[in-house]
Amino acid sequence: QPGAGEFVPETTDLAELAAAASGCRGCDLYRNAERTVFGAGPATARLVLVGEQPGDQEDRAGEPFVGPAGRLLDRALEEAGIDRGEVYVTNAVKHFKFERAAAGGRRIHKKPARGEVVACRPWLVAELQAVRPEVLVCLGATAAQSLLGPSFRVTAHRGEILHPDAEIPSDPAVVATIHPSAILRGPSEQREEALAGLVADLRVAAGAL
Ligand code: URA
Ligand code: SF4
Repeated sequence: QPGAGEFVPETTDLAELAAAASGCRGCDLYRNAERTVFGAGPATARLVLVGEQPGDQEDRAGEPFVGPAGRLLDRALEEAGIDRGEVYVTNAVKHFKFERAAAGGRRIHKKPARGEVVACRPWLVAELQAVRPEVLVCLGATAAQSLLGPSFRVTAHRGEILHPDAEIPSDPAVVATIHPSAILRGPSEQREEALAGLVADLRVAAGAL
């Protein structure tokens, strides 16, 4: 895969970046998805949240975190005292990767391959260059490994305020935590506890602002 690099214009204007991303063919994921789902939120945001990739509903809507995981994220942000309207929310990979349950059936999320995460990284770097956050939250391993390297383990470092050597534009403090989808996939009797853990990590991030 050629990667997104050749599609990324030299600009820090988020609207221009988003428009260019809609034509990205940096990896094969554009072929089956409906659209590129670029990040959303104010360019002035001090906090950036990075998820994995858009899901079924995000692919239809063209907006990140508007489906079930997004609703859970909204709840967690509210409990952590963070106004979603003031944060920039994006994903490590901008196209929905899925397989069909059956011909014409439901689209089931597939985890992006490392090569796809690397291919899409120039968009994420461009967004960070545009927004220049003080604090960056990685929701789950895909986001964390995109920015911190493939050997990073969320379980070992979640909720810590990290100052990685990695070349992340604006050199933000980084907090890694679990992905809201992991809470939804997990056992229902553990949801409240898992959600409390996500909220606690988001509070750490808010405290680093
Ligand atoms: N999961 C993600 O990682 N991102 C979204 O936008 C939606 C679900
Ligand atoms: Fe481009 Fe990323 Fe979509 Fe691949 S997933 S086509 S790199 S925007």
